Amino acid sequence: MTAQILDGKMIARRIEETLCAEITAFAEIVKRRPRLVVVLVGELAASASYVKSKGDAAARVGLDAEVINVPATIQTAALVAIIESIAREENAAADGILVQLPLPNHIDTLAVLDAVPPDRDVDGFHPENAGLLSQGRPRFVPCTAAGVQHMLVETGIGTAGKQAVIIGRSDTVGKPLALLLAGHGVGGDATVTLCHSRSTNLSFHTLQADILIAAVGRPGLITAGMVKRGAAVIDVGINRITGPNGNGKLVGDVDFDSVCQIAGWISPVPGGVGPLTVAMLLSNTLRAAKLRNSNG
Ligand code: GUN
Repeated sequence: MTAQILDGKMIARRIEETLCAEITAFAEIVKRRPRLVVVLVGELAASASYVKSKGDAAARVGLDAEVINVPATIQTAALVAIIESIAREENAAADGILVQLPLPNHIDTLAVLDAVPPDRDVDGFHPENAGLLSQGRPRFVPCTAAGVQHMLVETGIGTAGKQAVIIGRSDTVGKPLALLLAGHGVGGDATVTLCHSRSTNLSFHTLQADILIAAVGRPGLITAGMVKRGAAVIDVGINRITGPNGNGKLVGDVDFDSVCQIAGWISPVPGGVGPLTVAMLLSNTLRAAKLRNSNG
């Protein structure tokens, strides 16, 4: 058996078409376009490339987007001050503010994320938004987690009553995704196991999974012997392989060639979850603009 490919690019294109129409309608009524400000600290090539993808996608759907580049040597207090000043801008006000992660090691990432006003936190990383999600009344859902759930729903992969196993307990992906899949309603109602670096006998858990999500950043972690036949396998990992045989190639956490012989569905890297993360960011930005507009 060869797995069906979960084509994130195609699903993202459909979302963009819908967003484009909604943004045009919003702009006609409000006389401005929703605006996203992205703060990029330092010069990590991967981060610069993700930020470029976000800017390109914003332009495609008619969002107004700006990238603010900040040197890697900036200190926490100064970065917090930049975010506060973006939030204070009266003209060209930002509906959505995003700080690209990871930040340099000397910066207190939580202090920086806490400085993003929760009603403009299109990443959904502010504790207020994390709390709302945990209570089942989401406002901004972290984009990758939302993208994975969207992929399952759009593909008709039912989640209700299924065993979903997530590997990786990050605040940005694993934890919010566990909440989404265990929540009530469409794309939820799953029985969720959250595995992490201290989990013992990982294969025992992964072999139970009807839906297996790998989000740890370890190339080739999931091999065919760890996957139940017919399972949906979603690969959130993005790893750049360097060295003599790698040539800078992008791979996920799943050994695609072996796992696609066992799985029922599999998401590729690139072209799987990545485009959906970007699409969810666009959607959150429109949502932020609508919320701000309705609040005066
Ligand atoms: N770096 C990798 N993924 C993300 C994301 O979803 N949001 C931000 N801000 N940074 C990231």
